[in-house]
Amino acid sequence: MAEIYRDELRARFGLDLELGLDPGDEVPDNPWLHRVLLRRTQRRYADRPVPESLVRLLLAAAFSASSKSDFQQASVVWLKDRSRRDRLAALFPDMPWIGAAPVFLVFLGDARRLEKLGGMRGHPQPNGALEGFFNATIDAALALQTCTLAAETLGLGCCPISVLRNDIAAVAETLELPDKVFPVAGLCLGYPAQAGFISMRLPLEATVHIDRYDESGLAAAVDGYDRRRDARHSIHDRQRAPERFGTAEFYGWSEDKARQAMTPEGVGFAAWLRDHGFTFEDPGTPAGN
Ligand SMILES: Cc1cc2nc3c(=O)[nH]c(=O)nc-3n(C[C@H](O)[C@H](O)[C@H](O)COP(=O)(O)O)c2cc1C
Repeated sequence: MAEIYRDELRARFGLDLELGLDPGDEVPDNPWLHRVLLRRTQRRYADRPVPESLVRLLLAAAFSASSKSDFQQASVVWLKDRSRRDRLAALFPDMPWIGAAPVFLVFLGDARRLEKLGGMRGHPQPNGALEGFFNATIDAALALQTCTLAAETLGLGCCPISVLRNDIAAVAETLELPDKVFPVAGLCLGYPAQAGFISMRLPLEATVHIDRYDESGLAAAVDGYDRRRDARHSIHDRQRAPERFGTAEFYGWSEDKARQAMTPEGVGFAAWLRDHGFTFEDPGTPAGN
């Protein structure tokens, strides 16, 4: 047991995690790591402005994230204009924090810029294959999370917003996105108005595989996790769509997520991407094959 992080690991996983770190091992006692283990999403923000210089610093941190092949295929729209922000927020009334957060950024996968570079340097090359889409997505996701961790380190709270992709055409129009540029997620930023709570995670035995993929212990691991989560914070009385799924005697995380996944998200996203420059075909494969 890693004594140094015992409280944080218990908070994150709901059990005394066996990390194979004996007290005798050289486990660094790092203040930042304590904070990462306790990190949480924040959706309510204090009425305290975030200085623009601080946002720029966080963006500099975001774009310090690693980047596949140094292609640098992430971009951000910083939504400063109130009316444009309001138009975007009005698309998602269920998530008022999109309009209310002091700062709102949109992290974009940008497969376009690399194509532009090809044109500028006389080596034109389409970047609409799955590889181009995937690499741009990863770059944007890494920038998003690096921004988040930097902000949380400075005491700010964040909430990523992927719901943007549920109304992709309206979002793209609002942000004036050209072909091959697409939102990966928005990011609400501000000083938190409340402490928030730690979202317990699956045990490492369900997510970490040694030497080979092995899901033989999955059902037991999920059952145990459901029970631990329920003991800390029951959602029994907040069952999703009981008229459709019935009322479960025990309602845990896995039942909730299985029900949630029955309502598809991002409908129309693939078609929109195809209409905006992505073929998803391997390089050299004619479109449509
Ligand atoms: C890519 C991504 C997209 C997300 N999209 C939304 C969203 O649209 N709205 C929202 O309220 N939270 C969103 N979240 C926040 C998750 O719900 C949250 O991370 C999850 O419940 C775990 O909580 P935690 O971050 O506090 O551990 C998103 C998180 C990620 C990583």
